[in-house]
Amino acid sequence: MILKASQTSIEQAARLLQSGEVVAFSTETVYGLGADATNSKAVEKIFALKNRPGNNPLIVHVASVTQALELIHSESDPTIISRFKKISPLWPGPLSLILPKIDSISDLVSAGGKTIAIRIPNHPIALELLRTCRLPIAAPSANKSFAVSPTTAQHVEESFASENIVILDGGACRIGLESTVLDISTSIPKILRPGAISAKKISALLEETCIGPSMKVEQENIAPLKSPGLFNLHYSPLTPLVFLEDLIGIPPVSNLGIVLFSPQKKSQFSNSAKEISVLSEIGNLEEIAHSLYREIRRLDQIGLDLIAIETCSEEGIGAAIMDRLRRARHLPNFHSK
Ligand code: TXA
Ligand code: MG
Repeated sequence: MILKASQTSIEQAARLLQSGEVVAFSTETVYGLGADATNSKAVEKIFALKNRPGNNPLIVHVASVTQALELIHSESDPTIISRFKKISPLWPGPLSLILPKIDSISDLVSAGGKTIAIRIPNHPIALELLRTCRLPIAAPSANKSFAVSPTTAQHVEESFASENIVILDGGACRIGLESTVLDISTSIPKILRPGAISAKKISALLEETCIGPSMKVEQENIAPLKSPGLFNLHYSPLTPLVFLEDLIGIPPVSNLGIVLFSPQKKSQFSNSAKEISVLSEIGNLEEIAHSLYREIRRLDQIGLDLIAIETCSEEGIGAAIMDRLRRARHLPNFHSK
């Protein structure tokens, strides 16, 4: 059930969270599926709704740095606390920090590990909800596991059509890609998932280099899993999706969809494509990120045989765009489900 965000609907959603129910809400990155992070029964509902593997930990959302500090283990290494102080001015924002956790956070949230991811979202509705319920809220993206994340309330409703969950509608997400996940609990800070906040910005604030994410980790080899972004197939539509350059090696299909980052190559495909989507009139990476999931979802629903998508440089948010596209890319025979 989609509720337009208002003081009344936020209070209603906060009461549901306090009573152990699940609520979906808008953030600046993607929509989240939230539950009380201190209540294992409530957190279990998230895993069940999403069909999420239990070894994949959740991000805990809070309203303030003070509230975040309350969740961090009091005997944490001073280096970790010093990093936290340098980097937390980026909050509220699209950054999740991995830190040693206190015991009262459900072990389900941390997938049995000793750390949790914490984030303060930069969205007035998410912040108002967090302040009103006065709870740390565990919230993964509000989609079924391995599918494309939702950037509108309607996307959430499509994914959970048969489950009657409350969705707080805060409009289309401004950024449109999930937060940067940064582990500051290890000897060298490491980006586990690229997002709108770049490695360059993080390194400058931390005054130390951080390691970038690695693609070459197989699901079977990691336990507990460090980041679901590590699955080789994730963020994936059901329609096979390839890069434009892959088209050379693939037999032609009758129903081809093309996603372009600017209008430049449009005329090349006007005869061969059934549908062409242009994400930005000027090839702006922020605009591309904002519309990417919406357009992949739309093209996935119109009966195409194949979607071919442009690629971009790994500058700034381009690193996150390419990370998600590499994980979404699959030919018909390679899709696992
Ligand atoms: O932008 C976002 O981060 C959105 C919004 C709703 O805040 N949330 C989101 O959650 O994308 P989810 O569950 O779809 O992705 C969380 C990522 C996963 O890659 C997970 O493995 C990683 O964060 N993660 C969470 N806790 C972790 C931990 N303790 N250690 C390592 N990775 C962790
Ligand atoms: Mg997700």
